[in-house]
Amino acid sequence: MSTLSRTLPRSVSRASASLRVPARTMTVLASRAARVGAAAPRAAAVPAQVRGMKTIDFAGTPEKVYEREDWPLEKLHEYFKNDTFALLGYGSQGHGQGLNLRDNGLNVIVGVRKDGESWRQAIEDGWVPGKNLFSIEEAATKGTILMNLLSDAAQTSTWPELKQYVTKGKTLYFSHGFSIVYKDQTDVVPPNDVDVILCAPKGSGRTVRTLFKEGRGINSSVAVFQDVTGKALEKAVAIGIAVGSGYIYETTFQKEVFSDLYGERGCLMGGIQGMFKAQYDVLRANGHSPSEAFNETCEEALESLYPLIAQNGMDYMYKACSTTARRGALDWAPEFEAACKPVFERLYESVKNGSETRRALEFGSRKTYRQDFDKETDAIADQEMWRVGHVVRALRPNRK
Ligand SMILES: NC(=O)c1ccc[n+]([C@@H]2O[C@H](COP(=O)([O-])OP(=O)(O)OC[C@H]3O[C@@H](n4cnc5c(N)ncnc54)[C@H](OP(=O)(O)O)[C@@H]3O)[C@@H](O)[C@H]2O)c1
Repeated sequence: MSTLSRTLPRSVSRASASLRVPARTMTVLASRAARVGAAAPRAAAVPAQVRGMKTIDFAGTPEKVYEREDWPLEKLHEYFKNDTFALLGYGSQGHGQGLNLRDNGLNVIVGVRKDGESWRQAIEDGWVPGKNLFSIEEAATKGTILMNLLSDAAQTSTWPELKQYVTKGKTLYFSHGFSIVYKDQTDVVPPNDVDVILCAPKGSGRTVRTLFKEGRGINSSVAVFQDVTGKALEKAVAIGIAVGSGYIYETTFQKEVFSDLYGERGCLMGGIQGMFKAQYDVLRANGHSPSEAFNETCEEALESLYPLIAQNGMDYMYKACSTTARRGALDWAPEFEAACKPVFERLYESVKNGSETRRALEFGSRKTYRQDFDKETDAIADQEMWRVGHVVRALRPNRK
């Protein structure tokens, strides 16, 4: 499909011109739309606000949202003046959240396996052995807020050793509900005299870092599993802001892990690769050249159309395309929905009944998990579609 309109449809510009909502009363979405000078979302609701929290109407369902404006840096410093954040694990989230906490002037230390890949990476990022870089056990001893950012499989295998450091008055923090919710498989059962909270950024830890450095921030969700101090939610929100969140949604450990495992297996990662591959293969089987098959499957999606969806929604992207494209997309969307629905239902059930967890734990606790993953992702890189992608990306006009 190569029919993307050069200019936005008139209805879109009109909606943009009529956006005259006072800044303080706009929803998150509306304020974002105003910033990009584009169409206002249809149901712009006025949030009811109490200090530190807003209730926002999400298409008819009110939800609570917390915002960064209520946690200026001085307040965070005061709030955490007696705390030491101990990052246990330095993968993508450890890196992003740890560096953001450090740049925000909070007291952070890192705990990882000595001489592992993460240890090397942490040194590269300026953490100093013996000063703010320790073994997992040392960091867990020194920390008051233990941020368990080990891989989900490692959270299970290290718990028998780690739990002795989770002592009264400390806070146990996660970025995923995995270990707590699937306790039948993980055996991660915290003592009952600590707050147990989570903050899960809605993106990769790399994005947590880059958006922070750009002064933007990422949105996250928070949840409380155990509230001993009566301050667990407030603390979760404060940590969420301290690690670089802009807006924070409220959830539960279970809802977070179910939706997260489901989403990444579906549209976010697994589904997208499956759909791209199926479309590409059919084009190739019908004699289309590799570049054409890639352009009409991936390149135009990623470079042109998905950013429009990200900016202002699916209808906005549809309206920005030709009538021919729009007609076909509107006709075929329900067919794809019907074909995919049973797969999504099976996937949700597989998350809910713990099968996905069993698979993740089994794979992630192999000694060779890194190499085994590499083999499979290398195989994707070796698919014709992605080898072609490599060439096409080099031909993007903005690439040197
Ligand atoms: N990545 C994301 O996009 C994302 C987003 C939201 C939430 N989360 C959650 O955040 C948490 C951390 O995820 P992540 O992606 O940052 O990290 P990850 O890549 O899953 O895990 C990496 C860390 O776990 C350590 N590790 C692995 N096996 C170990 C073992 N047997 N003993 C000790 N340490 C071990 C690694 O150390 P070595 O280098 O020494 O192996 C590394 O520091 C998870 O709960 C995840 O679900 C992740």
